[in-house]
Amino acid sequence: MITLALSKGRIFDDTLPLLRAAGIEVLDDPETSRKLILDTNQPDVRVVLVRATDVPTYVQYGGADLGVAGKDVLIEHGGEGLYQPLDLRIAACRMSVAVRADFDYQAAVKQGSRLRVATKFTTIARDHFADKGVHIDLIKLYGSMELAPLTGLADAIVDLVSTGNTLRANHLVEVEQIMDISSRLVVNQAALKLKREPLRRLIDAFASAIPT
Ligand code: ATP
Ligand code: PRP
Repeated sequence: MITLALSKGRIFDDTLPLLRAAGIEVLDDPETSRKLILDTNQPDVRVVLVRATDVPTYVQYGGADLGVAGKDVLIEHGGEGLYQPLDLRIAACRMSVAVRADFDYQAAVKQGSRLRVATKFTTIARDHFADKGVHIDLIKLYGSMELAPLTGLADAIVDLVSTGNTLRANHLVEVEQIMDISSRLVVNQAALKLKREPLRRLIDAFASAIPT
């Protein structure tokens, strides 16, 4: 049995065409079913639905043989025990610093002010500001980061941006792009040895179906 860990939403949706290219059809729709283990048309392949941030953990400890996770999630996890053979180029966005439109970020940085930064992505934020030599107080949040500068909780946020609609709707502006983000295939290293043939076939099929 091969177990693939996916999160509901954009990662599940964007992985379906890659699975199809490997001849795999998922038989349940996670938007209508409450099932967490989904069968496929291949009796020896199943999909498990987990939180996006839990995908690396499932694969690391062998709860799944492989999975799809964003580069953001992989950096925050650390990547231990994971083989990362492919950038699937799905769920593309960027990690950015954003502030209130009336906050002069460049001046604050120039003056060497200590910044309060709210984010779910603490490793990425810590590394980014350390590289810039900017001192920060980090405030860990689990969502709705955009609210932090609006309520005075923080001067800046580090968050994912795609169209920029979420920032615009909340009167925030992107002041720095930290890195491009897309999702990767991650494989359990022990499984790669024990189930070498089927996993190789799957990885090769995914590789040839990556969007350009
Ligand atoms: P969790 O449920 O663990 O809190 P989440 O709600 O952030 O995770 P998703 O919103 O499905 O999960 O995001 C999954 C991945 O998709 C992210 O880790 C990121 O790599 C990517 N992503 C997030 N937002 C966007 C976006 N607006 N456009 C494109 N890709 C995105
Ligand atoms: C993500 C991210 C931003 C938004 C950016 O949220 O956390 O809030 O997308 O996308 P945009 O620039 O196109 O507006 P998501 O849609 O995943 O919502 P969630 O994290 O609350 O699930």
